[in-house]
Amino acid sequence: MLASYMACSTDALLPSTEMEILNKELSLPSKPYNYANLNTPSFFNSQFVNIQNNTTTSNPITDWGATLGRVIYYDKLLSANKTIACASCHLQQFGFTDTAKLSTGFSGGFTGRHSMSLINATYYINGRFFWDERAATLEEQVLKPIQDSIEMGMTLDLLVSRMKNTTYYPILFKYAFGNSDINAERISKALAQFVRSIVSYNSKYDIGRSQATNHIENFSNFTAQENMGKKIFMTQTKVNCFGCHNTDVFVMDNPRNNGLYTTNTDVGIYKHTNNPIDIGKFKAPSLKNIALRKRFMHDGSLQSLEDVVNHYNFNIQANPNLDPHLQDRGTNKPYVMNLSPLEVEAVVAFLHTLTDEVIVKDPKYSSPFK
Ligand code: HEC
Ligand code: HEC
Repeated sequence: MLASYMACSTDALLPSTEMEILNKELSLPSKPYNYANLNTPSFFNSQFVNIQNNTTTSNPITDWGATLGRVIYYDKLLSANKTIACASCHLQQFGFTDTAKLSTGFSGGFTGRHSMSLINATYYINGRFFWDERAATLEEQVLKPIQDSIEMGMTLDLLVSRMKNTTYYPILFKYAFGNSDINAERISKALAQFVRSIVSYNSKYDIGRSQATNHIENFSNFTAQENMGKKIFMTQTKVNCFGCHNTDVFVMDNPRNNGLYTTNTDVGIYKHTNNPIDIGKFKAPSLKNIALRKRFMHDGSLQSLEDVVNHYNFNIQANPNLDPHLQDRGTNKPYVMNLSPLEVEAVVAFLHTLTDEVIVKDPKYSSPFK
């Protein structure tokens, strides 16, 4: 069993008969794209980045597994009336999120929160998912939207039977998992593999970082304005952005409250921890490709990067659970950064260097459907 799994999950070429069947509806390469061994720059090998990786030994990425995940991700069969796919709310060209404040589900209902970017989801040390971290693993998370009554409105049994009735899934499951059995566990594993493969490493920041010895020094490929913004982001003592949006993959270490509101109507992670100190704490996705997004924060309440920086600059609210990074340790008052308009623009310019034009166009992350 293990041997056949290994044999099928490497980069086996598809025989032409199977290729012909797949080609009726899909455009897939006969040798799968590389998802398992991404050509990440050497600074990705630092302990700080590695420790964030939430890939489990029970579900390593294989090229065929992620290929199957890609097809499922773009397949409208996943929604009750076959109108939407995962990709409808997590669009590649916008950094795998939605431009709308709230996303529209299969029958016109709205999601309770703003969609999250999936870029670098693989890097989050505690491995929990959603703004409120209600899913303990990515494998658990990916099955939720399918069964959510607003998002896709399906049952897993119905999805499995729909998949069995296609020509392409039996072949794709065979290459991904060694035989053509289709079940919820395999759907979850394949989707999680595809999502974890969405790693960004081709932004201007990545190029500059590869040429530098550390993230603090000026990058030679940056403009003076971008370096100024980077310096504020990395080293400012009042409101240290990098203290929370941490490491070269720009992810958080833990959920936190960033003072959007004095009192939170959305209680965040408190919903599952039941600990009052957690009211209003949220996870934030990686900031890579943040400039491609149109809405920001769990409720999509902020509409531009200027608004985001100005939130931290002078609008942090005294929430009872406000993060210590955002308040004066003596008075407990929220920090006021006092950035000048030029400094605000510099931070915004720096955030634009996190845009990775390669990943948002790369065919291996785009729709395989004809
Ligand atoms: C109708 C829109 C919609 C659809 C369809 C949808 N999502 Fe989402 N997704 C969202 C929203 C909204 C959130 C944030 C919800 C929350 O935190 O309460 C989210 C969150 C996520 C997250 C959490 C990211 C993180 O860092 O914690 C992942 C992963 C994800 N979605 C993957 C998927 C996959 C895979 C599919 C298809 C099976 C899918 N989504 C379908 C709207 C959607
Ligand atoms: C206390 C930790 C902390 C600090 C310091 C911090 N942030 Fe955040 N940031 C968060 C949290 C938590 C969220 C998500 C909050 C929410 O949605 O309720 C967030 C969200 C964001 C988002 C929106 C992400 C998205 O996908 O919508 C951007 C952009 C951002 N922060 C930029 C910055 C910048 C720039 C700075 C420095 C000026 C900064 N942050 C400082 C914790 C922090």
